[in-house]
This record gives sequence, C-alpha cells and structure tokens, in this order.
Amino acid sequence: MLKNKNFYISTPLYYVNDKPHLGTAYTSIIADILNRYQKLFGYSSFFITGTDEHGQKCEQSALNRGLSPQEHCDQMSPQFKKTWKILNIEYDLFFRTTFDYHCKAVQNVLQNLYDKGDIYSSHYKGWYCVSEEIFYTEKDLVGAKSAEGKELIPLEEKAWFFKMSKYQKALQNHLDNHPDFIKPKERYNEIQGFLKQPLQDLCVSRPKKRVSWGIELPFDNNCVAYVWVDALLNYVTGAGYLNKKEHFEKYWLNAKKHHLIGKDILMTHAVYWPCFLMALNLPLPDKIFAHGWLLNKEDEKMSKSKGDKLDPLELIELVGLDELRWFLAKEIVLGKDSALSVDLITQKVNEDLADNFGNIFSRISRLIEKHFDGQIPYHTEDSLLKKLTEEKQSLFKNKIDNFELSQALHLLSSLLVEVNKYLEQTAPWKLVKIDKKQAGVVLYNCLEVLRICGILLAPVMPKKMEKFLSALGEEVIFKNTKWGRQALGKALKHSSGLFPKILI
Ligand code: ME8
Ligand code: MG
Repeated sequence: MLKNKNFYISTPLYYVNDKPHLGTAYTSIIADILNRYQKLFGYSSFFITGTDEHGQKCEQSALNRGLSPQEHCDQMSPQFKKTWKILNIEYDLFFRTTFDYHCKAVQNVLQNLYDKGDIYSSHYKGWYCVSEEIFYTEKDLVGAKSAEGKELIPLEEKAWFFKMSKYQKALQNHLDNHPDFIKPKERYNEIQGFLKQPLQDLCVSRPKKRVSWGIELPFDNNCVAYVWVDALLNYVTGAGYLNKKEHFEKYWLNAKKHHLIGKDILMTHAVYWPCFLMALNLPLPDKIFAHGWLLNKEDEKMSKSKGDKLDPLELIELVGLDELRWFLAKEIVLGKDSALSVDLITQKVNEDLADNFGNIFSRISRLIEKHFDGQIPYHTEDSLLKKLTEEKQSLFKNKIDNFELSQALHLLSSLLVEVNKYLEQTAPWKLVKIDKKQAGVVLYNCLEVLRICGILLAPVMPKKMEKFLSALGEEVIFKNTKWGRQALGKALKHSSGLFPKILI
C-alpha cells in the first residue's frame, strides 16, 4: 500500500535579504537529519527547502544594493544552495518562489478562490511590518512595535481579502481532533488560545504602486499577491500541485507531511496555511513543528539584523561539520530556545564524541590490531550490554518519528557511557594476557554497540559514520542494527583520528 509510506518534510523558504546564518542553518540541518532517518527506516521521502523571493522586504533589499529584484534574488538564492551543500543538506528540491511554474500555480489558486467567492474586495487600514511581511491591527501591537519588536508602517489601501473567518470552525475542529497537529504542546495551546477570538479575514494583496515585486493577481492587474500567500503555497506547488500530478499524489496526497519551522512564523503556518488548504479542498499537513530560537550571549534571538549571528561556515571550521550537526541535534531539545557558544559546542563535542565514541573506538581498535591481528573477534552472547542496547534501540525509532531528536540521541549517548564503564570494569588490555577468548568477547561486545550506534548516527553525522563503518566493513542499512552480526572487516586498523579533541 502506498498510503503513508511516504514522508514529506519542508523547511521555511528563507528570505533573500541576507545570506544564510546559524538560525536558518539550524532548521535546515534538523530537517535534513529527520529526512535521512526516514530514508534509513525505509520510507520514500521528499525534502523541500528554498528561498522566499517576492515582496516588499526583498524589493527594498534589492533597491538598497542598486539591483533589480530579480538580479538580487539571482545573486542571493544560490548562496543558500551553496551553504546547504557545504553543510551536507540533502534536499530533494531547492525551491524558489520566482519559479515560473509556481507563479502560474499561485495565479491559478487565486483565481479559483476568487471564483468560489472566497476572495472579495475591500479596504485595508492598519499596520504593516516589512521585516516580517505581516499585517498588524491595533490589538496585535506590542507597544508600537511588531511581535518581534520590529518597526511598523501605517497602511491604508484598497485590497483583496480572503475569507479566513469562514474556516475558523473547521480549523478549530481539526485541532480538537488532532492534538499532534501543532507541536510542541505549548505552540498547540498558543494557537488554541488564539482561535478563541473571532478570526479576521486576511488581506491577500498589495497594490503595485507600493510593491511591484510579486505575482500579479489574475483578476486585478493593479495588485500583486501578498507574499505569504505566494510563499506558503510552495509547500504544495513544490510537491507538484497543478504541475506534477503523480508526484503530488505520492508526496502530498499519500504522504505523512511535516513542516518544520521556527516559532516566529507559527501563525502563518498554523492558521493561514490550513485555511488556504481547506479552501482548496486539499489535505492538511500531519504536523507543524515549531522549534525554538537559537539565542546569543545576551539571550536574545539571533537574527540577520543583529551583528551577533554566528556564521555556520566559520563555525564548522572551528568545530567540524558533523560535530556541529551532532551538537544541534542532541543538545537542543527541538522546540526549546537554546543559548549557543563556541565554548559550549567544544565542551559537549569533546565530552561525547572525542572522549566517548572516539576514545572507545581508538582503544578497541588498538587492542584488536595488537592482539587479534586486526581480525574482529566474533563472540555473540547474551551480555548485559546487549540487553541494554536492545532496550534503547526499541525506544529510538519512536522518538525519531515523534521528532524527539535530542531524546533519541541521548539514548545512544548514554549507551556509550555504559560501554566506557564496561571497558574500565573488564579491562581487556589486562584480560587479554590472562584469558584471550574472554578479552575477545569484551571487545566484540563493545564494537557491537559502536557498530549499531554508527548506523543509527549516520543521519546525524553522515561523513564521520561512513568513515567509521567502512573501517568495520559495515554499511548504513537499518536492518543491520540487529545485535550479533558478524563484523566483516578484514583488517581493523588502529584508528585514533575519528573524533580528534577540539582545542580552542
Ligand atoms: O520567515 N533560531 O523567512 P526567514 C532558530 N520567508 N531558527 C531561526 C533563527 C534563530 N535565531 N533565525 C531564523 C521567513 N531561524 C519566511 C518564511 S515559509 C513559507 C516563509 C529560522 O528568512 C527558523 O526556521 O525570516 C525561522 O522560522 C526561519 O529561519 C525564518 O526565516
Ligand atoms: Mg525572519
């Protein structure tokens, strides 16, 4: 059966007003890891990311640089692509809202909504935040600023509205019946609370005389589409809606669909987007997961407009790519805010990877090389370590499926701590002189844990784990995570270079 065998995951489409930074890299890395896990588990998956290129913010950035908006986008968008490649982010589609097929599909959608009477002409009076591309009414202001403390401009213009209020009841019902629709729970509650108030209709157009960089409305050539309508629709047009029928059937109609976003854009995703989908009679996503913010030293959200953002490319020079991916996935509970510094990353990486995983492998491989001619001893038995490994493994997949990435990785990391203890207790470097067979049993047990962890960690640290597993003659195959596989390595050489200690 096709149903639900397919996995769909998206990141937000990032604005092209600046190059990628650690915040946007964070979402993309986590989405990449979750996607790689589903592939490992055997699902067909579709991972979409890209850039959000229309609207006033982009138009202004282009103007400031003395470029046309299209030239500006054509320069900025590839920087995201380039950075994601360096960060080893394996997306299936890098989407740009300036794609021709997308612009046509958006026009189609708007015409459909207009024809069915869900879009009407009226007058907008209120505020607008260019930085967030969000309309604000008096009651939503925080002081005289936006939710994120950004500048607002007063607006008064003729505009087109989408009858969002018409879908309030249906959205409420959907939330009541799907407690996992919005994760984590705090965000679900936030939207439930918001829906207690009557939902306002949504302004979905901007007059060209104010913003010309956008998709023209098919029924009013004086206006362009409001940029969020255009950008949100990427999630379906990118999957093939109105352009690649089979692909759309596979990855939207018959897939488990997940949007990974930051909590800054919860409202647009958890309210506007499902209302659009309901108006189009399309199925809603299964999960909208809003993660927290990476914070700077002052405990403020890192952002492009502040000078404090860490550059992911500079950071990986210091700590290593797979090490950074590991840190972001394990040390940050998805959904929570988290402070971040080079010192903290260094400390955690040294603790977990250099002193644990790397050190264990170095000790074991040295002993195997020295006392067993590099042949991995094969002694499967019902050890305590086996029992512990199987216990943790049985919890692992479920946690990943629930996006409890940090919790899942803690299971493996605590297992490695146990291996270290076991090594200290059994001291195979002494044992080998008295009872070589028993020393072989100990080494085999330890290596089994590492091998299984190596496969389960490959989505987080693809390059490092591939290197490690190839030393064992092992591959990244999920069914190989069963205890007791005969290791295949012909000659396991001593290796101390897997996770060198970071010295800063
Ligand atoms: O909002 N911590 O784009 P954007 C964690 N174009 N994540 C962060 C972060 C931080 N300090 N800063 C940014 C837009 N992010 C729209 C989206 S989708 C149809 C349109 C991440 O460039 C996080 O994922 O402002 C956040 O939601 C996203 O970048 C916002 O990117
Ligand atoms: Mg933003």
